[in-house]
Amino acid sequence: MIRLALLIPSKRVPLRLKSIEMDTVLSGIRSTGHLHLGNYFGALRNFVRMQHENRCFFFIADYHSLTTHPDPKSLHANVKDIFCEYLAAGIDPEVATIYVQSDVPETLELYLLLNMHAYMGELAKTTSFKEKARKQPENVNAGLLTYPTLMAADILQHNADKVPVGKDQEQHLELTRRFARRFNNLYEVNFFTEPKPYNFDQELIKIPGLDGSGKMGKSEGNCIFLCEEPKLIQKKVMKALTDVGPTEPNSVKPESIENLFVLLKSVSSPDTVAYFEEQWDNCSIRYGELKKQLAADIIAFTTPIRERYLDVCKNEDYLRKVAANGAEKARASAAATLREVRHIMGIRPF
Ligand code: TYM
Repeated sequence: MIRLALLIPSKRVPLRLKSIEMDTVLSGIRSTGHLHLGNYFGALRNFVRMQHENRCFFFIADYHSLTTHPDPKSLHANVKDIFCEYLAAGIDPEVATIYVQSDVPETLELYLLLNMHAYMGELAKTTSFKEKARKQPENVNAGLLTYPTLMAADILQHNADKVPVGKDQEQHLELTRRFARRFNNLYEVNFFTEPKPYNFDQELIKIPGLDGSGKMGKSEGNCIFLCEEPKLIQKKVMKALTDVGPTEPNSVKPESIENLFVLLKSVSSPDTVAYFEEQWDNCSIRYGELKKQLAADIIAFTTPIRERYLDVCKNEDYLRKVAANGAEKARASAAATLREVRHIMGIRPF
């Protein structure tokens, strides 16, 4: 909650201000390449939907992307691309704060302080750490291990109530909640809010890839990008994995086909979905027709975003202004939290 209106006394800490007005929302996306449909439907779509009713912070997690050692040129270009994609998708910098993680050094002090309360065992147990350690055994760096505490610092520095994310971030959010609880208990304060992963009271979303199994992800190489060229989208969708088709009415869909339907439900009209569901159920489905429709609907849906993206990318002055303004607001919010955290922990001048 934004600390505005109510004063909540706690045991040893100075009075803490709480809002009775608006929830605080925070979320971020790593700068590891262009945004794909998973990022959009899992996260970005909700950023846009939430921005008018909440105090929102949306950032580009460039520090988080360093765990895989990107080359400096591509890191720099990726930050700008995502910044433009945020704006193109409809985040309005007049109402929401958009910033780049590395523009807010306060995050790093909170990260350090939270690391003192995060245990090796719990960090090493996270699925993302174990997966990355398996995928890049030559680079199991400390940043990878403490990835969840940096994420907790991102969230807790603004005392976010809601964090719009996809299904794969659920475990990280659970850790953030645990760190917040642990801090409050240890110092006997009611300071950090326990943030909720958020998708408008619905299950968190997992958008699948086109290769038959698993989620859409940059490192999986199975993505359709939000600002991808229509021809490429068409090509990728037409190549999506399918099978010989159902042999019995009303049968359960195998994963590769279910995945196509998940994508269809995300971009197509309910009538279109119902049409193909019926075809599936009565075993008359033609995958070629379904894929053509799916490609057309993805293209229709992404084209306006792509056009705005191409436009906004050109306006360097505007981008710089939005980033500077966002950094200033994010720093003010983070610094206020940090001041109180330092005080609570006893880091004070003599
Ligand atoms: P990242 O960059 O991997 O993904 C950004 C957002 O996109 C969602 N997402 C998906 N949702 C549904 N289906 C998919 N296939 C899919 N792929 C990605 C993710 O769930 C996420 O919401 N650790 C974060 C970045 C981060 C962050 C934070 C997020 C850093 N600090 C604080 C929230 C709050 C990450 O790597 O997301």
